[in-house]
Amino acid sequence: MSENELAIIVLAAGQGTRMRSRLPKVLHRIGGRTLVGHVLTTAAALGATYTEVIVRHERDQVAALLADRYPDAEVVDQDEIPGTGRAVQVGMDALPADFDGDVLVLSGDVPLLQAETLQSLLAAHRAASAAATLLSAHLDDPTGYGRVIRGADGGVERIVEQKDATAEEAAITEINAGVYVFRASALRTHLARIDQNNAQGEMYLTDMVGLLRGASEPVAAELAADVASTFGVNDRAQLAEAGRVLNQRIVRHWQREGVTVVDPATTWIDDDATLAPDVTILPNTQILHACVIAAGATIGPDTTLVDTEVGEDATVKRTDANLAVIGARATVGPFSYLRPGTVLGEDGKIGAYVETKNAEIGEGSKVPHLSYVGDATIGRHVNLGASTITANYDDVNKHRTEIGDEVHTGSHTVLVAPVRLGAGAKTGAGAVVRKDVPAGSLAMSVAPQRNIEGWVQKNRAGTGAADAAARARSAE
Ligand code: UD1
Ligand code: CA
Repeated sequence: MSENELAIIVLAAGQGTRMRSRLPKVLHRIGGRTLVGHVLTTAAALGATYTEVIVRHERDQVAALLADRYPDAEVVDQDEIPGTGRAVQVGMDALPADFDGDVLVLSGDVPLLQAETLQSLLAAHRAASAAATLLSAHLDDPTGYGRVIRGADGGVERIVEQKDATAEEAAITEINAGVYVFRASALRTHLARIDQNNAQGEMYLTDMVGLLRGASEPVAAELAADVASTFGVNDRAQLAEAGRVLNQRIVRHWQREGVTVVDPATTWIDDDATLAPDVTILPNTQILHACVIAAGATIGPDTTLVDTEVGEDATVKRTDANLAVIGARATVGPFSYLRPGTVLGEDGKIGAYVETKNAEIGEGSKVPHLSYVGDATIGRHVNLGASTITANYDDVNKHRTEIGDEVHTGSHTVLVAPVRLGAGAKTGAGAVVRKDVPAGSLAMSVAPQRNIEGWVQKNRAGTGAADAAARARSAE
């Protein structure tokens, strides 16, 4: 095998105790993606021959995510012996015995690393013909990380964990990022010598550094240029901090692509979202999962879009939308709730206090105020009067409402599904429509109005209403 063949081992078997969570740590998310998913997405750029993920704690949950989202990664089970050293041992055992390339070890809880950082780590390792090269960084607050101990000549001698460090060692600010490249043969030879004689009773992978040095094998450390990319996530505070850094990176990326982000601190964009140039994002806006926002659209303020498509020059204000499609030049909001299956046509409108679900609303059609539209197909240039409701549920089943082109409904129309309104039909205010309305018909269902003259003066004499009525009458 060629010397530069690469195997990647992602450590994801730990319990993540400090998260205090039912969910395994590596399945917590930032930017819409699991921590281990970020690591695997970055790793995918390196063209490794083998990619393994070591699992143990809640292994079924982790394995299920991997099978679903990252099927190219091989799942390898760690046994009951704890520690990162053991994790790499089982990873090495799962590789072909004759694998003789480089082994890149990544931590499932270090999600912000970028492919370029790993590529330069690999390049430095190969250039130096080192037995091991680790990624290090200078952190203002190194608490919790392993510290890099260098000898008088400046070379790396060993790594000491926080819990095993003397006060003097703990004062060192150069940390081990938990990312290493090893020459496979050197790793195999010395891994078996790692013991559990430390504060945590675990097999520390970090002991490899001292062991290799002791065997006169060259060990190098590469300082990360981008310190934040080495952040490890051990607790919820670090999770939020990593999420913030990632978001900053994503927002910056889209700004450079021509997106106006008025307030980066309150704008959250997931990894999977795609935005076109001249999109404007107003404050307090979240663009989550695989949203696609077309050129010229304005999103926000106070808007959450999940898996939603927004067309060119559309405006979406103070809105919550999930799995919806909003056409070009359409306007949505304020205070609109678009549930899955909403498809709003070009130049359409969904206005204030409107909820939609499974609703196709045609080109130029408007649902401007206080409506519920569910399980409906609506044609072009339709106007639903304020508070028009599709009564789609009969207590047992859901039914569809079909509305033809150019239909106008009166305010407070209730469309009791299944029901059809033919093209150009109209409904009177307050109509309860239980039967199909033929094209061009007016549907009325409310009894004609009757005014009883003088009723107030007769029955409510002496009240403010009676007095006001009397004044109005005499002024006539
Ligand atoms: C580890 C390093 C530390 C480094 C830090 C960087 C060791 C002993 N220490 O510490 O020097 O500064 O990462 O973030 O390696 N894991 C397994 N199997 C296990 C234990 C852990 O796969 O038996 C996995 C975890 O799921 C995690 C990673 O290894 O993804 C690191 O484990 P963690 O317990 O978080 O180590 P740290 O204390 O952060
Ligand atoms: Ca960690």
